[in-house]
Amino acid sequence: MIGVRKASAEDEEFLYRIRSQPSVSEMSLSAPPESREKHHRWLNNKLHDPNCAIYIIKLITPDINDCVGYIRFDSMQLNHVVSVAVDEKYRGYGYAFDGMYAAITDFLHKHFKGRIRAYIKPDNKASIKLFKKLAFKKYGKDTVEGQEVLVYVF
Ligand SMILES: CC(C)(COP(=O)(O)OP(=O)(O)OC[C@H]1O[C@@H](n2cnc3c(N)ncnc32)[C@H](O)[C@@H]1OP(=O)(O)O)[C@@H](O)C(=O)NCCC(=O)NCCS
Repeated sequence: MIGVRKASAEDEEFLYRIRSQPSVSEMSLSAPPESREKHHRWLNNKLHDPNCAIYIIKLITPDINDCVGYIRFDSMQLNHVVSVAVDEKYRGYGYAFDGMYAAITDFLHKHFKGRIRAYIKPDNKASIKLFKKLAFKKYGKDTVEGQEVLVYVF
């Protein structure tokens, strides 16, 4: 079963590992953490930022209780930008879809106004498929952090 919960300082190691995976940083608009110390400060700021919500995607079976990925919402007024990553070893099992579904449902209970946006690199086929399946609609193109992205909106 896939579930989500809010991230805490105890997820520092897991989030550092995922954010450092080359396949994640390649598709991300921000650089991977330069060091453990910088990641520690980054996470501490994010956890105390009222405009940020980080969810951990959890896989729970009779034999497994593991973190498989994260979902982050960064809000500016009514504009909520979502990003997601799943650990390389857990990809292709539908975990991003199930996790996103649960996280969006929870997030929208608290932020029922506004739109959720995803900025996706044009060659990120997995992400485009994921967001389409989640009923995000293609809104157009934009340039974010100097990079051309497709904008999907929910
Ligand atoms: C994008 C990402 C989160 C998807 O995670 P996942 O758990 O493997 O995704 P799911 O298994 O839920 O798959 C969702 C859909 O995408 C499709 N998909 C997954 N990987 C794919 C790939 N490499 N190429 C094409 N489609 C792919 C799946 O088939 C599924 O569609 P379907 O149900 O119609 O078959 C994961 O690949 C990842 O972490 N990538 C690196 C970080 C990233 O790109 N983040 C998004 C930035 S916007």
